[in-house]
Amino acid sequence: MKVPQIEFPIHKFSISRLVYGIWRLHEDKEGSSPERILEKIELCLSLGIDTFDHADIYGGFENEELFGKALSKLPSLKSKIKIITKCGIQIPGSKFPTKHYNTSKEHIRYSVERSLRKLTVDKLDVVLIHRPDPLMDPYELAEIFEVLITEGKVNHFGVSNFTPSQFQMLQSAYRRPLFTNQVEFHPFRTEPLFDGTFDQILESRIHPMIWSPTAGGRIFVPKTEREVATHSKLQEIAKKYGSSADQVLYSWFLNHPAGLVPILGTNEPKRIQSAAECFSYPLTRVEWFSILEAARGKEVA
Ligand SMILES: NC(=O)c1ccc[n+]([C@@H]2O[C@H](COP(=O)([O-])OP(=O)(O)OC[C@H]3O[C@@H](n4cnc5c(N)ncnc54)[C@H](OP(=O)(O)O)[C@@H]3O)[C@@H](O)[C@H]2O)c1
Repeated sequence: MKVPQIEFPIHKFSISRLVYGIWRLHEDKEGSSPERILEKIELCLSLGIDTFDHADIYGGFENEELFGKALSKLPSLKSKIKIITKCGIQIPGSKFPTKHYNTSKEHIRYSVERSLRKLTVDKLDVVLIHRPDPLMDPYELAEIFEVLITEGKVNHFGVSNFTPSQFQMLQSAYRRPLFTNQVEFHPFRTEPLFDGTFDQILESRIHPMIWSPTAGGRIFVPKTEREVATHSKLQEIAKKYGSSADQVLYSWFLNHPAGLVPILGTNEPKRIQSAAECFSYPLTRVEWFSILEAARGKEVA
């Protein structure tokens, strides 16, 4: 079964239900040559994964460029993929002594144009504000979103790591619907289930993107009591279905009615391939809660 698309009806746009993340591209043991990157892009496409999640800062501001150089070797791929990127975090270095956020209109324009250049594409499908900026002026941001859409540089804007009230604040100033809120969610970080994040997404009829779905791989190399219990539970369910622990974990995200979109972080082709098979193993409600219980170390009230 190929990875399906998930529709964003208000935006009249879809992305693949699993997205491939570029954060760890430069950590690939096989290197980050154009050939290696193309191997992973083509594998993703063959599995139905056509959406790639970037950020300007990934790989010390270099991963967008590595990806863009790979695309330049096979430009026919550009029309087959969807690109999401993020901006707004400023890393300390020669220009700035202090890490900070910048959501000024000048910086958003600068960053979007730099991403277009580095990725060697004409348009970005989705741009997310990477982190909520305490100095963010939602009216200024809404204005630059509109300008960049009118200029044909970006199709949709959204946010990442926003609380429901920060999301609502920006949405109230912006006349178009925000595309998503990309948040950290996995069995060891379940706050979005309970703090209103997913409720708001459901209300807005959009879908959340999920970062670090395997808790940075921690789920598969369990150390603490809860990690061991969670890994054992995933393995127990996997055995029943003749699947694997990673497939059960990715399937766990699919049960939520908000239509969660996990972003894969692995550089291993065989792990990408395995994740894509998670759609063949739908979990029951009881199995879903048993994973939640193992990870939280307690049953629901
Ligand atoms: N919006 C944000 O603030 C934000 C923050 C962080 C990340 N992100 C996005 O989310 C994406 C995914 O995050 P992530 O990289 O942390 O994902 P993740 O899947 O939680 O972590 C990936 C790490 O786990 C390991 N791993 C994955 N599957 C494994 C398996 N089956 N067995 C053993 N180890 C496994 C990988 O090693 P191998 O490569 O060796 O498999 C890799 O080191 C990023 O690429 C980025 O696009 C967004």
